[in-house]
Amino acid sequence: MTDLLIKGGSVYGPDGPLDADVHISDGVITRVESGGAATGATVIDARGMYVMPGAIDVHVHSRDPGFPEKEDFGTLTAAAAIGGVTTVLDMPNTVPAVDAAGVLEAKAALARPKARVDFGLWGLLRSSSSEDQLEALGAAGAVGFKAYLGYSFSTSRKQVLQLADADDPDIEPPPDYGTLARLAPALARLGLPLVIHAEDPAIVSAFSRPLETYSDLLEARPAEAESVAISAAAAVARECGVKLHVAHLSSAQGLRAAQDAMRAGTQLTLETCPQYLWLSDQDFERLGNSMKVFPPVRTAADRDALVEAAATGVIRIVATDHAPHTDEEKARPFALAPSGSPGVQQLYLSCLALASRLGDLSLAPRWVSEGPAALAGLQQTKGAIAPGFDADVVVVDPNQTTLIRPAMMRSRQRRGVFDGMDFRFGIREVFLRGRAVVRDGKVIGRPSGRMVRPER
Ligand code: NCD
Ligand code: ZN
Repeated sequence: MTDLLIKGGSVYGPDGPLDADVHISDGVITRVESGGAATGATVIDARGMYVMPGAIDVHVHSRDPGFPEKEDFGTLTAAAAIGGVTTVLDMPNTVPAVDAAGVLEAKAALARPKARVDFGLWGLLRSSSSEDQLEALGAAGAVGFKAYLGYSFSTSRKQVLQLADADDPDIEPPPDYGTLARLAPALARLGLPLVIHAEDPAIVSAFSRPLETYSDLLEARPAEAESVAISAAAAVARECGVKLHVAHLSSAQGLRAAQDAMRAGTQLTLETCPQYLWLSDQDFERLGNSMKVFPPVRTAADRDALVEAAATGVIRIVATDHAPHTDEEKARPFALAPSGSPGVQQLYLSCLALASRLGDLSLAPRWVSEGPAALAGLQQTKGAIAPGFDADVVVVDPNQTTLIRPAMMRSRQRRGVFDGMDFRFGIREVFLRGRAVVRDGKVIGRPSGRMVRPER
């Protein structure tokens, strides 16, 4: 029996838009068809609206536990919900870092009562990680593993850090290609994706310089750092059959390296972020430190190459790298301001606006739902509006626009890269497994998010 009926909208299913009603029973989509009746169901009038699958943001930093002044699962998932993101996959660089099954279980327990959307957790791959640790993380429900190439680790603080002094006995060096090769058989056996932060530390060290201007940052973290990291990690992944995922692709050169690796037979997926699709170095003057993110936002030519790759399906995933700090921290001088900015709330809107500019609105749900579901191993239950799938549904109003202002941001860092942007759509209602979590653009109800685990 249908208990919720989303009626009369333009439904973006796997085969493109169709005027239809979405029948939902017990949190699951049961039918997508037009004209059927449903007595006793709650009816949502979606005439004139687009009905789309909830987004899965595969790259967020909840900062929880560790940095409650920057963000926590409550603020993160409120921002996600209001933006139409019904699942977030949280990165493991919280404190303590998620390098063992017990840490993952504790983090899940802490997240559950605060989560307004579903969540999955990435495990951390450190240079000292063992096969047993990865297997235990997999058994505890990790969606995959993240290797921060070029980030050090404090063993006493259990914290991922910027590249630090290798002579300090507390500092563990970054995982390198040797670490990846050593752990590749376990990764292949588990079948879970390995995500890399692709900035080669040798190149980042070689080009290191004082950061006074935005051009200094571009010279200090060149595109070669990205392409070299991708090529080397791909060579390891290909030999062992590891599924490799490149986080936040930022350059045309990195894209070329990835395409070469794909042609050579590497199982490789690419993710880029709205900031790399919308912005270029020219925007720094306007945005200031909100735009300080690693890897950096590069040139207009890089941006255009990434847009082209997303439009043609070479890049299948757009995620945000939502990485809030406090507005005070971000107001420090350029060299001292931490890298990272919030983004989860604008994921869907920015992708809809870009897809609309490219003339194919269905690109947006492909980038934020379908591609991400496949990466996360959730392709049987999430990422599509089709029978048998979780009723994670977003009702988009094409007649509304959304002006982005700091006051509307639900994250603790309120200033972001899209401040002042007027996106040409609005997100009206959001359903998480059939339950309304956003109504008329406002977050409602109690947290009801669950942890997701890969299906395979
Ligand atoms: C991220 C963070 O702050 O956690 N920062 C960033 O600039 N992207 C770390 C990361 O994803 O590299
Ligand atoms: Zn990163």
